[in-house]
Amino acid sequence: MKVLTVCLGNICRSPLAEGILRDKAHSMGLEWEVDSAGTSSWHIDEAPDPRSRQVASKYHIDISRQRARQFKPSDFDLFDQILVMDQSNYKDVVAQASSEDDKDKVELILNYLEPGKNKGVPDPYWDDNGFEQVFQLLDKASDAFIKRHQQ
Ligand code: 4NP
Repeated sequence: MKVLTVCLGNICRSPLAEGILRDKAHSMGLEWEVDSAGTSSWHIDEAPDPRSRQVASKYHIDISRQRARQFKPSDFDLFDQILVMDQSNYKDVVAQASSEDDKDKVELILNYLEPGKNKGVPDPYWDDNGFEQVFQLLDKASDAFIKRHQQ
């Protein structure tokens, strides 16, 4: 399984989702490839936001070596599943799809927790207190995603 997590800046939510999914997959012995990207070009080559790094390290996950990059259409060829954080990411990614198969790879990550609800992971960039909640949501959604796809 090759999974790409996507948010707007690729410095807050999707790098956390990447780190959480990789950590869980690794500890379950799954040979998964996990990466993340942003729909914007704003933070290319930057390390994850210090607040994301901090909440990850609180749960013994090191995301400090990850670097932001921008989503590109060829990611549809490289990944089996593209997990987006909110509706805006969904629109931006699906707009770059060139087939129905591409579109079918894109899913809101929280639909793994609450199917069909189309809820977004709140953007914590402007809210110092949001990072713990984001971690908990992504942790639970990652468990559900792995449970569904671990075979
Ligand atoms: P992310 O959060 O999409 O979860 O990485 C954001 C990061 C940066 C900005 C917005 C959201 N920004 O406006 O620079």
